[in-house]
Amino acid sequence: MKLHKIALLPGDGIGPEVTAEAVKVVTAAGAKHGFGVEWVTYPFGAAHYARTGETLPDSALAEMEQTDAMMLGAVGDPSVKPGILERGILLRLRFYFDQYINLRPARSYAGAPCPVPMREGARIDSVVVRENTEDFYMGVGATTSGGGLDVPFEAERGLYRLSGRLSAKFDPDCAAALQIGAITRPGVERVTRYAFETAKKRGEKEVILASKANAVPFLYGFLDEETRRAAREYPDMTLKIQNVDALCYHMVRNPTNFGVILCPNLFGDIVSDLLSGLTGGLGLGAGGNIGDRLSMFEPVHGSAPDIAGTGKANPLAAILCAAMMLDHIGEGEAARSIEAAAASRLGESDPAARPIELGGAASCRTVGDGVAEKV
Ligand code: NAD
Ligand code: IPM
Ligand code: MN
Repeated sequence: MKLHKIALLPGDGIGPEVTAEAVKVVTAAGAKHGFGVEWVTYPFGAAHYARTGETLPDSALAEMEQTDAMMLGAVGDPSVKPGILERGILLRLRFYFDQYINLRPARSYAGAPCPVPMREGARIDSVVVRENTEDFYMGVGATTSGGGLDVPFEAERGLYRLSGRLSAKFDPDCAAALQIGAITRPGVERVTRYAFETAKKRGEKEVILASKANAVPFLYGFLDEETRRAAREYPDMTLKIQNVDALCYHMVRNPTNFGVILCPNLFGDIVSDLLSGLTGGLGLGAGGNIGDRLSMFEPVHGSAPDIAGTGKANPLAAILCAAMMLDHIGEGEAARSIEAAAASRLGESDPAARPIELGGAASCRTVGDGVAEKV
């Protein structure tokens, strides 16, 4: 029997609740399709940080690299200053393993109604291809209580190393913050190629780029030019550049199939929550951080501290992440079994079977049990 080694980082809040259900479903799929999984579980998150002061040690990164793939629930907790766990764990993993694609499919399911009216027969079947290492996520910036700032910076990516000094003068009484984004030609090239290949696989001829060159011309003007240049590799396909504000407007007014939406990091974050909401809830949004080294699968949603411990979390996003992960490691049939089981569970009219997030009465565990049983 084939044995896959998977790193598991449940994290904070609802992270452990939803990943427990994903593990259950993967175990059921393994029994059906003839593979086993050795889970290597990591404790990183708010409690570990409070106990040890450590976010993510280098030794864990080296160990994780020896696994076939990774699953992450969510990190972040109200007891810890925003950014410490998110940047220290999640973004560190994405950057360290150079997971340059954040792939976030969004589709309509029977039993998960769109919260705004949709045209007769329309359904959402889109995928966000989010650049995952650049833009305003570089982590380069500083604050001043007035007078100015002058700090060295360094950022390391798979493609390049960026270093220098950030230096600025402000009026003496002007407290301020300065943070910069970076977009590079090689960064744009690889994500553009991935987006076009994704569209091809879907049998589509268009990629939409969510941009904002009208207001942020250096960063996103460059993005437009470089995406156009990279898109020349696909002469029989179309690149449609749209301002991200208008794109969001159209999505809400007319939720439909937008196909492949290529986004710089920050817009991709926002657009993927919007699309998850339009498909019925964040508890349906799965995603993968994909790169040429270790890839990491993680729901679009966060640790949801407002519902943690209540059983209200919808584990389907984590379960669908597990399916994406299995597909990635060559267990495509198991992935399709899980997707079909999740869809069929959602399609049941019995409110006792429907997740609480979607107006039903099924707790996190009940949903997980139901999908595992169907698998
Ligand atoms: P969130 O995604 O955690 O929650 C937003 C809203 O959606 C909340 O009302 C929540 O209850 C609801 N929700 C989310 N997932 C759900 C699910 N599976 N089932 C039912 N309802 C669900 O976003 P937030 O409130 O901005 O962030 C909370 C914490 O999570 C913060 O610390 C944030 O930094 C962190 N975060 C982590 C990740 C990650 O690790 N991948 C992603 C996003 C946010
Ligand atoms: C996500 C999250 C993260 C992001 C945060 C927690 C850093 O919102 O995965 O969507 O912005 O990428
Ligand atoms: Mn997000």
